[in-house]
Amino acid sequence: MVKKIGILTSGGDCAGLNAVIRAATLRAVNEYNWEIFGIKDGTLGLLSDPMDVIQLYPSHFDGNLMRMGGTFLGTNNKGNPSEEKIIDSFKKLGLDALIGIGGDGSMKILQKLTQKGGINFVGIPKTIDNDVKDNELSIGYDTAVDVATNALDMLQPTAASHRRVMILEVMGRDAGHIALNSGIAGGADVILIPEIPYSIKNISKHIENIRSNGRNHALIVVAEAVRKEDDSKATVKYADGEVRLGGIGSFIGDEIYKLTDAEIRVTVLGHVQRGAQPTHRDRLIASAFGVYAVDLIAKEKFNRIVVWQNRGVTDIDLNSIAGYSKTVAYDDPLIKVAQGLGIYVGETN
Ligand code: F6P
Repeated sequence: MVKKIGILTSGGDCAGLNAVIRAATLRAVNEYNWEIFGIKDGTLGLLSDPMDVIQLYPSHFDGNLMRMGGTFLGTNNKGNPSEEKIIDSFKKLGLDALIGIGGDGSMKILQKLTQKGGINFVGIPKTIDNDVKDNELSIGYDTAVDVATNALDMLQPTAASHRRVMILEVMGRDAGHIALNSGIAGGADVILIPEIPYSIKNISKHIENIRSNGRNHALIVVAEAVRKEDDSKATVKYADGEVRLGGIGSFIGDEIYKLTDAEIRVTVLGHVQRGAQPTHRDRLIASAFGVYAVDLIAKEKFNRIVVWQNRGVTDIDLNSIAGYSKTVAYDDPLIKVAQGLGIYVGETN
């Protein structure tokens, strides 16, 4: 019989995490009368002595928490900390099950860890990249697309005022979902995603066509993992020695300038995409996922991940998604939509 469960957020934060913690807490306490413990900072809360965990009550969520971005439990997306100590701490807590909220990377780590420690696990997908296999929507994705769309809304008037080409570099790692969706919704002229090769010559021609047809400005969205023409990714080395994605917008801008002479400016949207107030859809998915995950535990169905399919929540085997990533397919209907609107989306033929 389940009596006590844990919950943690792992990997990069995103909008909607507080809403999912709330949903799981309300369901666990109000429906099942269980105890639920929030583990701080991903699995790091289990490494500190004393452990950094808090018992969660519905009263924690009386106010504005579910409306806020971030995760009040904290998270981390660094490395693989000592498994033994974490498993030991799990055992000390006496948890009957654990809910892990993470992207595909965190999910793999958590699954391995919980299997090794014999801990009953249920996963909830969250990532602005929306790249979890067999899952239509991850928590945080809708908000990120909204932020990127708003950015295009704000770039358009300044682009028009100065007759400029504005390039917006968005996140998404190796998946082009944020770029493709925000690009269509935000009226972009060019959308570049990691999944489809492009030609600078054809982008430049497209810009020239727009100009010769009387429009004095253009908007380009580029996903951070789009490759340069030599097939390398644009990266930045940070002071801590880590190499992170960044800079493809400037690269593309410089190349287009060489062929068009257009005045170009680049905006790198960055973590703004993660910290906004969650959209109604992210709150809704988060709420549905949180309730469903607790119900799965009540049925003692473990090693599952809850997913959004056909406008509802269901669950699938966690092993079936581990190691896979959902990227934009060449025949994605949205590619056709973009092309139907006259947007250049790369060399699809
Ligand atoms: O996976 C989510 C994500 O926001 C990516 O889109 C981005 O490349 C990365 O995380 C940024 O990670 P960090 O928070 O370590 O800068």
